[in-house]
Parts: sequence; C-alpha cells; structure tokens
Amino acid sequence: QQGPAFDSNAMTLTRFVLQEQRKFKNATGDLSQLLNCIQTAIKATASAVRKAGIAKLHGIAGDVNVQGEEVKKLDVLSNELFINMLKSSYTTCLMVSEENENVIEVETERQGKYIVCFDPLDGSSNIDCLVSIGSIFAIYKKQTEGAPTVADALQPGNQLVSAGYALYGSATAIVLGLGDSGVNGFTYDPAIGEFILTEPNMRVPEKGKIYSINEGYASDWEAGVFNYIAAKKDPTKGKPYGARYVGSMVADVHRTIKYGGIFVYPATKSAPNGKLRLLYECNPMAYLMIQAGGLASDGKISILDIVPKKIHERSPIFLGSKLDVEEALSYLK
Ligand code: AHM
Ligand code: MG
Repeated sequence: QQGPAFDSNAMTLTRFVLQEQRKFKNATGDLSQLLNCIQTAIKATASAVRKAGIAKLHGIAGDVNVQGEEVKKLDVLSNELFINMLKSSYTTCLMVSEENENVIEVETERQGKYIVCFDPLDGSSNIDCLVSIGSIFAIYKKQTEGAPTVADALQPGNQLVSAGYALYGSATAIVLGLGDSGVNGFTYDPAIGEFILTEPNMRVPEKGKIYSINEGYASDWEAGVFNYIAAKKDPTKGKPYGARYVGSMVADVHRTIKYGGIFVYPATKSAPNGKLRLLYECNPMAYLMIQAGGLASDGKISILDIVPKKIHERSPIFLGSKLDVEEALSYLK
C-alpha cells in the first residue's frame, strides 16, 4: 500500500510564523511581516548561491553578461537583497550589516519598531569553491522613543526577540528561534518554493564527539584552549573526539546543534577578541544554541550578557553541547 503522495497540509515557515503570532493577542503582525521579508531575501540569495540562471549571466568565456555588465558578487547581491527587503517591510528602523561600516537607517516613512543585525553571506572564503555558506540574522525591538541612533543597535543578546540563520548546504535550511517557540528547522522544497518544518523543537545533545576549531592557529592560543584541545585528542583522557571545521560558521554551528560537540573561535595573540562579530555572528548563534539546550560563552560570561560598545565588535566564542562547553571553560581557569 502506498502512503499519501502529497502532503496537502504541510507546515511552511510562513504558516508557522503566523501561527506563533496568533498566540499573542496584541501582536500587530509586524514581526511576521519582517520574517517573511527575510525569507524572501534568503530565497533569492539561495537561488543565486545555487547559480540559478547562470547561463544568462555568463558570456561564453567569463564573468560578463549579455549587457556587458560584470556579474555582481554574491556577497554584494545578498546584502542588497537583505537591505531592500527589510526596508520595504515597513517594520524596521535600523539595520547593522557586516558589509556596511555604519548603521543603515530606514527612511522615516518606512520605519517600524524593529532593529535587524545581519551577516548576509557568511563564510566568504568558501564562496568560490562551492562549500557551504550561510546568512545570519538577529532581531531586536527599539527600546527608546525618537529617531533611531547607533545606541539602539547596541543591545545585549539577552534582549533578542528572534534570531536565525539560513544554511546554503547540500540542501537549503532555515533554523529559527522565535520567543518561547524553541528552535525550529525548515528545509527548502524547491518544488513548491517553500520552507517546510522538518525539525521541530531542535535540541542539541548534552555531550558530543566532535571539536571544531581552526587548529592552524594553535601556537597563538592561550594555554587553557591548547590544553583542552590536546585533551580531546588524548586517548588516555577518554575516546578522542573527531575534528570537523568547515570554516563557515553557519555550517559549523548547524552541525554542532544537530550532532553535538563544541565550536570554538578563541582569542589569539594577534586577535585578542577572536574574529567573529558579536552582533550578527556570536549573538544570534548563542541565542539559538542556548534555546536548544546548549551553552555559549566568551570564556568568562554568557555571550548573551555582553553589552556591545561598537556595532562591529568581536568576541571569542565557545559554543555547543552543555557538558562540552562546561569542560572547555574549566580549562580556562
Ligand atoms: P567572513 O565574515 O569573512 O566570512 O568570516 C567569518 C567566517 C566564519 O564563518 C568562520 O567561522 C570563520 O570566519 C573562519 O575563520 P578562520 O578562517 O580564521 O578559521
Ligand atoms: Mg561573517
């Protein structure tokens, strides 16, 4: 006997967001509208990442299309998509993008109450070799009256309203954290152009078997990090962990949520605050990891408790399974 050939009642991302909105009597629908616009930016970015329409863009021998224009770089394109979709959502007043030095203020007529920090295309070193990349976003509510200023964007992660990422991997997925609704994973179905809820209520295993860190910088690490990683490879201290490092934060974090383990981008001698940016890399990932039952620390305090001073500031990060992060932190003392 055959099962149903077609699910006529699938939980799409749009439907999920609407359903969550309905739980709040006073909700205006602004956040749902905002998330739908992010979804559109992600769909368009995914299509560009998958090289849809490549035949039209490339001349017979290169990067110049039929109009003689150079093909827009993917990171520039995705940044424009995020900015344009968010501005036209009428729900945001201020944006912080990894690609823009200053905050982006929305024209007064189109302003709304939310602030969005995003990395439109993270993992830039992996773009050209077709390895997984992603988009990351973090959403806050403006806390003050009056015109938006940079200070409105400098909220700690514990004020987040919602955060998520899109992974352009072997499939495209969106993982969304939204208030109390937990962490939910949606996979893109190209046949209908919708993200479908495939992983409801994601939970990170309490302990994993994988460590993820750029070991090329080992000589630059502080002793605690060095000793922790050495212990993960030392058979006299337990079964050695496997090493996995894509070099795209979204891919490394997604694997960590799914399989457990730890992802670390530590401080080094040459980069005392590490590399990853607090507002649109560390905070949204920490929000998701903690909601999924894991931990995220800068080595001293929870990532979400850091009060940012600058929009592009960096933070070291230890993130993943609760027991693995706790063990790593115990080496830093
Ligand atoms: P990017 O914003 O230039 O893409 O850099 C961020 C990326 C992260 O996705 C990844 O975790 C990290 O850089 C890898 O850095 P490294 O090559 O130093 O290990
Ligand atoms: Mg980045």
